[in-house]
Amino acid sequence: MPKSPGGALLQGFTIERDSSVPIYRQLDASLRRLILDGSLAPGQKLPSTRELAQELGISRITVKNVYEQIIAEGYAQAKTGAGTFVADGLDTEAFPQVRTPRRKDKPSGIEISTRARTIAASKSVARYGETAPFRPGVPALDQFPVKLWNKYLAEAMARDARRSLSYGQVNGNASLREAIARHLADARGMKVDAERVIITSGAQQAFVLIAFVLLNQGDTVWYENPGHIAGRDVMQIMGANVAPVPVDGEGLDLDHAMGRHPKPALIFTTPSHQQPLGTTMSLGRRLALLNYAQENNAWIIEDDYDSEFRYRGRPLPALSALDSARRVFYVGTFSKSMFAAMRLGYVVVPPEFTETFATARNLLGQNSSAVVEEAMARFMADGRFTEHIRKMRRLYRARRDVLFESLARDCGEFLEPERTDAGMHMVAWLKAGIDDQAAHDALLEAGIDSLPISVYCIEPLNRAALVLGFSGVDERIIPRLTKRLAAVLRDLTG
Ligand SMILES: Cc1ncc(COP(=O)(O)O)c(C=O)c1O
Repeated sequence: MPKSPGGALLQGFTIERDSSVPIYRQLDASLRRLILDGSLAPGQKLPSTRELAQELGISRITVKNVYEQIIAEGYAQAKTGAGTFVADGLDTEAFPQVRTPRRKDKPSGIEISTRARTIAASKSVARYGETAPFRPGVPALDQFPVKLWNKYLAEAMARDARRSLSYGQVNGNASLREAIARHLADARGMKVDAERVIITSGAQQAFVLIAFVLLNQGDTVWYENPGHIAGRDVMQIMGANVAPVPVDGEGLDLDHAMGRHPKPALIFTTPSHQQPLGTTMSLGRRLALLNYAQENNAWIIEDDYDSEFRYRGRPLPALSALDSARRVFYVGTFSKSMFAAMRLGYVVVPPEFTETFATARNLLGQNSSAVVEEAMARFMADGRFTEHIRKMRRLYRARRDVLFESLARDCGEFLEPERTDAGMHMVAWLKAGIDDQAAHDALLEAGIDSLPISVYCIEPLNRAALVLGFSGVDERIIPRLTKRLAAVLRDLTG
């Protein structure tokens, strides 16, 4: 029988006195780990409680309590008069699945699903945390009326607790759905029954829901190229064949898609403000697309992510406003018009899908918070949402102008900015020979963010560009940043 491990084994115990984890728990975890990873063999004698307590400088009672616990759970055995031993029958070698891997062990023979492999390959970028200036899609968060919003949140919490603190409604808060339907009528020319509005935790959950409900394995999805990254990846992950469709001056190139790709189950498009090129889909193309979808039994996702921000003329009505055949799933988000952390968006579904979507939303975890939904409903009903958008529109227009002029003045040698009449970002085409990923990486090192247009592409474009967000950058610092941007590109190309 192996002897007590004594001093050598004691090195396996690490007790951190500053830790918030109590010493009792630390010792207990160390012992279990050493037994499960085989460092302590079955039948091996453990140090006496006195020896271990002395060695670790902790109380003997603590060690005794831990020994009693591991004995009770079958990791160890007490033998009267002889001491405490690792349980005899505990052959962890025979059950590799319960062994704690040692650091040097390589994971062996783990098979992952096809879906897990597709997820691992996703290029969608983590959006967490503070971002550097010119990151696309970031609103002016420092201008958000936090105090006012807190008042609405507090009111939403203060309702009858039995209602407000329970699960929300399965398709989302009814007052919020009404408020959204009114907003869509006023701002997007859509006549929508609130029953058709399903609340989601952001546009992204709407894409997941749509793919979950509509797509069969191997279905073709026509997808704008370049196009919104995270939506595209969801379609791929759900097993769709995502077919890239180029975008011309009128929007998604329908003729190209019809000539090149199988008939789609679903078509993903951003007609109001193409992501990322900024094109507005022409009326002719809108009608042709709706007509095609109706005749070919295809569905359309209209992602209307930043249509609140149009700087010339009135916003064009949504594609959905023309959709008398009800082929369009209209997706909206509050991530741009309010702030992304609220995780609130919605999808307007064709009437025959309302119940299926509500059930699917429930099955996928009903992710948006019923409290935030209620606060947002009140914020909209009081006109606060419209007020905030109006303010932001003025601010973003000014920021767009400063960025365009500063880029044209400071960076003309390296890039050609494209003036945009809408949205929160602009495309700056790089002069021949400058790689957009290399430019992005070099800029990021200098504290300037962007997205290379290549990450939006399934098929590469024949030009490189950087997508630069202006909405979240104080206009007073933009000229300083564009000078730095020029210096970095000069360094990169020189
Ligand atoms: C094209 C597009 N659609 C939708 C979204 C919004 O996503 P979410 O509402 O999940 O934050 C974004 C955000 O980056 C986007 O760029």
